[in-house]
Amino acid sequence: MTKTQRLESIIKLIKNRKLRGKVTEIVSNPQIEIAGTVYTGLSLEDSPAGLTRHHSYPGGFTEHVIATAEISMKLCDVTEKIYGGHVDRDLVLAGVVLHDIFKPLTYKFERESYSTTILGERVDHLTLVTAELIRRGFPFELIHIVCAHHGGQAGPMWPRTVEALICHLADSADSQLNGEVLRAARYLSRRATGEELPLLRSKEAFEIVNSKKAEGWQGVRKTVGKIRRNRAS
Ligand SMILES: [Fe+2]
Ligand SMILES: [Fe+2]
Repeated sequence: MTKTQRLESIIKLIKNRKLRGKVTEIVSNPQIEIAGTVYTGLSLEDSPAGLTRHHSYPGGFTEHVIATAEISMKLCDVTEKIYGGHVDRDLVLAGVVLHDIFKPLTYKFERESYSTTILGERVDHLTLVTAELIRRGFPFELIHIVCAHHGGQAGPMWPRTVEALICHLADSADSQLNGEVLRAARYLSRRATGEELPLLRSKEAFEIVNSKKAEGWQGVRKTVGKIRRNRAS
């Protein structure tokens, strides 16, 4: 299954037809109009989900949404099975799918690297998506989830519902899991070979980190060399 198909299968898990339809609409047409100008960015499939800190490679956006959805469903299970709480899974799924949906609008790919578009320089992705969900008539509780997904330290507000808390925790867990492994792999590669691999993918990063555990610095040099050859062929 491709990443796009996996993203579609997550949207299909939303039981409420009206909400599912609205989510599908924005995912299939992720653009925003501001003062007569329509902003479109990288495709969801090609876009990263961050410039440097996490998922900073082609396909990183869909990977982040898929992983965050998986984590969020596990958190729903724990909330219900262990703590006896109740979670509206439709809201959680829709929140996860949409929380960063305008990030690709804020990125461009030039001279072999990602940078911020004029739109992203002036308005952050969280504000853009919150405004657009209000304009498109999304449910109030979903708007809160998106608005609170960065938490109160890095964003405008803390989650005030269980669904918003689950989305925030899942987003943060996946960003950290991916980001820490990318950071470690970049460091290992730099120490072992004097260079970093540009646009390091998650799979490559995990391979580098595992090779250090299995074979030390020699393993890192071997793995980085293998990744370079694979990329060149
Ligand atoms: Fe975000
Ligand atoms: Fe995110």
